[in-house]
Amino acid sequence: MKLHHCLLLLPSLLFLSCSDEKDYVPRGTTNPLEILDLPAVAYDYNEQLPGYFFLNDGGPVPSSVNGIDNTPAHNPITNDGATLGRVLFYDKNLSLNRTTACGSCHRAEKAFADSSPFSHGLYGQPTKRNSMTLVNARFYQRGRFFYDERAASLEDQVIMPILDHTEMALDPGQILQRVAEQPYYKQLFIKAFGSNTITSERIEKALSQFIRSMVSHNSKYDAGRAQAANMREPFANFTAEENRGKDLFLKPFSEGGVNCYACHTTEAFVSHNIGPINNGLDAASGTDLGAYGFYTSSPEMTGAFKIPTLRNIVLTGPYMHDARFTTLMQVIEHYNSGVKDHPNLSPWLKGDDGSARQLNLSEYDKLALLRFLYTLTDQTIMSDPRWLDPFINQHL
Ligand code: HEC
Ligand code: HEC
Repeated sequence: MKLHHCLLLLPSLLFLSCSDEKDYVPRGTTNPLEILDLPAVAYDYNEQLPGYFFLNDGGPVPSSVNGIDNTPAHNPITNDGATLGRVLFYDKNLSLNRTTACGSCHRAEKAFADSSPFSHGLYGQPTKRNSMTLVNARFYQRGRFFYDERAASLEDQVIMPILDHTEMALDPGQILQRVAEQPYYKQLFIKAFGSNTITSERIEKALSQFIRSMVSHNSKYDAGRAQAANMREPFANFTAEENRGKDLFLKPFSEGGVNCYACHTTEAFVSHNIGPINNGLDAASGTDLGAYGFYTSSPEMTGAFKIPTLRNIVLTGPYMHDARFTTLMQVIEHYNSGVKDHPNLSPWLKGDDGSARQLNLSEYDKLALLRFLYTLTDQTIMSDPRWLDPFINQHL
């Protein structure tokens, strides 16, 4: 018997209680998790990655992600931990005026970056840099975050946007209070950490687990790579143009390539450990000094920025820390003819005479590079329910 049936009987049978207790849900006792779109059994956030992620293919630069996973021993990914992280990630209650969540600037359909050159914070003010993709954050041996690497670990990083006055603008006490106020967190904390105690350390751990679970391996590149003995041999599912682009991207100059892979390395297409680099965007640094001044006082880090992953690069534009390029062709033209002689320009972008290298690529080769970058797009990244907004019912 449903509650409203009981109520209909009320006038005549005032002193009888409803007998069918199974269906009787007293007011106020609905499951607080019901407003969230979460599965009954938590999703698997520790999926097996393809074997080739862990194989070195014998090339000059390591292709395996072995040793570059920055997951700390004290915070392995658990399904319930990442689920809590997912809810926190999309919860607008974590901004002062309840308008902005992590997911506002890291959008699934943009591979967890943002299409605005500068994202908008809680009062609409622009961020200082272009939002970064969160995919493959886990594969960076140095484990430092932001373009200037000012966050020493992901666990340190994830709380910073909530405290940032432009982005979400809470103070540490308010963060705990906002989480405690939402009825759904009690059960989520118990499942993730065994008790209902809300601490900033637990919030940091859960958000980090959720972000580290975002790994991309369902692209055309992966379909080809799975059938090939190594990265460098032609892929059977690629067009001639895509294979040419792959050659150019992977191979050093001595083998006829343009050596993008010196910096954008491994199967995750991240920088495995080299740290912030100057890629010749400007001849001299302007107001954004990059890594210098934040985590290091070494002047040679002026104008050096973290190297983002190139997986899903088609989705994450505009490009570079200051969003100066709208299209990937502009990025390719930058490396082809636009690299500037910044005092800290990486040696990999210099020619034999020590100045900025011109690649002199043909139109065909520029297009081939572009086509190769397109093969790194993973459509599942934007539709995988594990990473989507669980508050979706509330927006309907
Ligand atoms: C208002 C927009 C905005 C919001 C909200 C926001 N971010 Fe970001 N995020 C950015 C921008 C912009 C950057 C790059 C900033 C920089 O390098 O200085 C960034 C960078 C990052 C990075 C660094 C990635 C890397 O590879 O180094 C991580 C991780 C991240 N954000 C996670 C989060 C989390 C977790 C939240 C919610 C707690 C969040 N962000 C909320 C805009 C935002
Ligand atoms: C010396 C190291 C180095 C080499 C070699 C290199 N890059 Fe980069 N790349 C970087 C750095 C550093 C950035 C980020 C710079 C910034 O935002 O200030 C970057 C950014 C990019 C981006 C934009 C990423 C984003 O999310 O905004 C693309 C696309 C890219 N590189 C493609 C290439 C291609 C294609 C090649 C080969 C032609 C190449 N890179 C060679 C270091 C390098």
